[in-house]
Order: sequence, then C-alpha cells, then structure tokens
Amino acid sequence: MASKRSLQCFMSRLCRGRRMFAAVPESSVASSSHKLINLEYEYSAHNYHPIPVVYSQAKGSSIWDPEGKRYLDFLSAYSAVNQGHCHPKIVKAIQEQVEKLTLSSRAFYNDKFPIFAERLTSMFGYDMVLPMNTGAEGVETALKLARKWGYKKKKIPKDEAIIISCCGCFHGRTLAVISMSCDNEATRDFGPLLPGHLKVDFGDAVALEKIFKEYGDRIAGFLFEPIQGEAGVIIPPDGYLKSVRELCWKYNILMIADEIQSGLARSGKLLACDWEEVRPDVVILGKALGGGVIPVSAVLADKDIMLCIQPGEHGSTFGGNPLASVVAVASLDAIREEKLAERSARLGEELRTQLIKVQNQYPDYIKEVRGRGLFNAVELNGKALFPVSAYDICLKLKERGILAKPTHDTIIRLTPPLSISLAELQEGSKALRDVLELDLPKMLKEKPHSVSSSSSHICDRCGRNLYGSVDKDL
Ligand SMILES: Cc1ncc(COP(=O)(O)O)c(C=O)c1O
Repeated sequence: MASKRSLQCFMSRLCRGRRMFAAVPESSVASSSHKLINLEYEYSAHNYHPIPVVYSQAKGSSIWDPEGKRYLDFLSAYSAVNQGHCHPKIVKAIQEQVEKLTLSSRAFYNDKFPIFAERLTSMFGYDMVLPMNTGAEGVETALKLARKWGYKKKKIPKDEAIIISCCGCFHGRTLAVISMSCDNEATRDFGPLLPGHLKVDFGDAVALEKIFKEYGDRIAGFLFEPIQGEAGVIIPPDGYLKSVRELCWKYNILMIADEIQSGLARSGKLLACDWEEVRPDVVILGKALGGGVIPVSAVLADKDIMLCIQPGEHGSTFGGNPLASVVAVASLDAIREEKLAERSARLGEELRTQLIKVQNQYPDYIKEVRGRGLFNAVELNGKALFPVSAYDICLKLKERGILAKPTHDTIIRLTPPLSISLAELQEGSKALRDVLELDLPKMLKEKPHSVSSSSSHICDRCGRNLYGSVDKDL
C-alpha cells in the first residue's frame, strides 16, 4: 500500500508540467532534507513552489539545513526578517512573555497592547492603530476602513464605494485582496471577485488623475505599494508619491500606503513613502513588525479616519495579543537602535554597485539592476536566457549557498536581512557571477526547450503582458 502511494505520488509529480512543487532528484539534496520535502509534498497543499532547501536553524543572515550546510538568506522571508533571524532582543521578548500571558482576546484588556499601540503610533506619527496579524488582514482592514470613511465622512451613496489599486500590485491572498490582483494565477477560478475595484497603472499620476476625475465622488481610497515588491521591485518615477498625495487631497480620497514589504527600513528609510517625504492617510505594516517571529500587522491612521470604525464592526481574536505586542515593540526597538534604515541605505548602494559590475560583465543576460536600500531586483533578459528561467538561476544560487527567490519568470529579488555584513553581500553577488559564468553555459545546453504557456501572463483584466514574460515562440 505504502509503495503504491509513493508511486502515485511520484507519477503525479512527473505528470504535472507546470510549477512542480517538489522536483527533487534524490542526488540534489541530502537524505534528511529529501525526506522532509517529500513529506511536505505528500501532506501539505501544493500552494507554493519552494526552492528545495530545508531551513533547520538560522541566525542573522545565515541558515543551516538539517545536514548542517550553511546558506546566506537573500529573501528574508519576503522581508519579514529585516532584523535578522532569531534576533536576540526579539527572542528574549517572546520568551519572557510566553511564560506570563499569551492571549487575552480583546474582549478584555491586556498589559502589553496599550504599550505597543502608543509606541507604534508615536514612532510613525499617527493618532491610532488597529492591530491585526497577517499582512492580508491588514490590507482587508484598510479597505474596510476606507469604505466606512467613504460612507460616513465623504457621503458616498450606499454600496457604491470604489477602491483604486495599481496594475501589478500584490497585497495578499484573501478574496477581497485578490479582487485587485492582476496575476492570473492568483485569481483564476477563484471568482466571483469582489466588486468596487478599479485599476490604474502604477507610477502614472496623469492616469490616476483621470480616474479620480471620472469616479471621484465614489472613490474612497487609493491603495498602492510605494515600491511594488512582488511585481519585481518596481520603483515609481520621482515625484509620483508627491503627486499621489496632492491628488488624494484634491479629490478627497484616502491615500493608503501598503508598506508591508517596503516599510520598516527595507528600502533604506523607515517607510518607502519617506523617500518623497509624503505622509499617507493610512499606512499598513506587517511582516518585519513581527521580527520574523510571529505575524503582526497594523493599520495606522488619524482619529477622524480610524474612529469611523466602532466597537463590534471589525476585529480579530489574536490582533493585539500580548505576544505580538512585545515582539512588535522589540522589533521596532531593533530597527531604531541598530539604525537599520541607514544600514539598509548604505549596504543597498554597495550591493547595487557589485551587481552592476556583474551586469557589465554579462550585459546580454542582465537587463537591469534596480532597488532602494536592500530592496533590490536583478531583471534577467528572458530571451537571451531562454529556456533557463530565474527559478533555474535561483536553484544554482542555492547550490552555491545563496537563497533567493524569483518573482515572475525573469526577476530575482535580492532582499537580505538588513543586518547582513558587507562580506556576506559580496558572497551573494559573487555567487550570481559564478552562476552566469560557470553554470549557465551548461544549463543552456542541457535544459530542453519545452514550450510553456506565455499566454498565462496576459492579464485577464486588461489583456496586457504585465510581467514581460519570455516570448516562447523563439
Ligand atoms: C505589499 C504586500 N502586502 C501584503 C502582503 C500580504 O502579507 P501576508 O502574506 O502576511 O498576508 C504582502 C506579502 O508578500 C506584500 O508584499
């Protein structure tokens, strides 16, 4: 029976052409990791496509697998580990708290959430916070808050509120949130999506004003990432954030910045909006607010907006729990005390200098190196590399001890913990150079030129190819 099941499992993996979860040849990973990957494949939903490496222990920027091999983390759990893995101050905070009190629910008060609330609001200069857990919940909260404000304050007619979001955005995976997504994989067969959403091109203030003019009376909020992360670290043109601020004031629309990935020092400033010294009406934080230890998210706004939500209208059992509260305070302390924003800005410059050197050596393969602080991407030239993808390059980086994850077919995001050292950064760019110099020629020869569906990247919503995927009719 067991052998029949493993055979079925093996066959189903072989047969699934697209996005294989656990394409792990026995020889590519040592035995304990191999067993764990297969166990996960067997018993967990196949909703991710991980690089085949098993995290077993971590400290700062270093990861060890169960066999004791060390890697350098160049993803930071999608920027949730800005402070570095197992940061001693954050670990100590949770260890001390876990013995005392873990959960009150907000049916009652606890002695840690008020401290966190005061701390977070004063650090970011807002009147109030609404605490949640995951990033997607934070975004949901901001959407609900904007709608409430729209009806109560802006007097939008009942059920007619509109939220504007950007093409290429990523705000999470819940139904309301994917209703704004341009990624077909995130939306197909999950319909019907939530109504009340319109899209605009990211970085285009003229298009934004056009849509504000046309639908302004019904628009409650404009939700955007100041730097689009999942889309491939897309930085808006200079002046865009300022224009957004002006337009939102002009048309009485809430400016809602999703800083879940770009915030908390990742981009070299505390918030990415700080690059243009712009203060949004609503800020959403998550990821590194929990220091890579537990999920903590938060929505920040002033009283005239936040108090539109009344008791009983929104909440979460775990939001504002004492463990999350002490972890968040320690995470914020670490960012401030260790000057992580400044560090990110400085090291980011250095990393881009190194990566541009690699680009100059391989201009045919690297289209662009871009980023702010330690929020960076290397965009590959999909045509020159075809059939090798960014994922294949990441597999080779992994073999060379560097853990990075592609976003879309041709972009590698490089977002190490902000505590990374200069020498470790150099290891990362050297590994990329070595992959292009030593591994790629072999990969190009060996990988079969199978045709995969470029049409899946044509946005269902607008019919454009947003992610510049490779034209496979080569
Ligand atoms: C900008 C942005 N918003 C929201 C989310 C969703 O966060 P979570 O995965 O914690 O729900 C993400 C996650 O990558 C993100 O990058």
